[in-house]
Amino acid sequence: MLKENLLKKLNDQVTAEHYASNLYLAMSSWCQAQGLNGAARFLSTHSKEELEHMYKLFNYINETGSMAIVGAIEAPPSDFEDLKDVFEQTYQHELLVTSRINELVELTLNEKDYSTFNFLQWYVAEQHEEEALFKGILDRMEIVGIKGRSLFMLDQEIGRLVPVQQ
Ligand code: FEO
Repeated sequence: MLKENLLKKLNDQVTAEHYASNLYLAMSSWCQAQGLNGAARFLSTHSKEELEHMYKLFNYINETGSMAIVGAIEAPPSDFEDLKDVFEQTYQHELLVTSRINELVELTLNEKDYSTFNFLQWYVAEQHEEEALFKGILDRMEIVGIKGRSLFMLDQEIGRLVPVQQ
């Protein structure tokens, strides 16, 4: 059974992962509307990954004998300046999620909940990968820009980041 303060923070994280899924889905829709089909596909796949992150937490909480809560989530933004704005926002969002995961890890240590500490290590590794992924895309944009042919090429490249089976 989880301690109350840890349960509350884990449930908050369920909500945060759910919000991230909706945010990336909204971004995918915006990209599709701009004809940026590669980025749209990438972000829609990433939206599904965030749902998996949510379910993983949800199942863990319930396995401990505590109860996962489906909380309210606010609507994500639906309009963006350009593709760079989209990916700057994804990167900032991932940094925020990382700081929340770090706070959770710290709490497990304070509460001597080593099982949850162990469970959260998957998220620590995942955040490292996601930060690197989004930062890499932003770096490419800085180098080639997002105008004309560069935008076309970047969109194709981002689309190729989606694993083949998806
Ligand atoms: Fe669930 Fe992209 O962090």
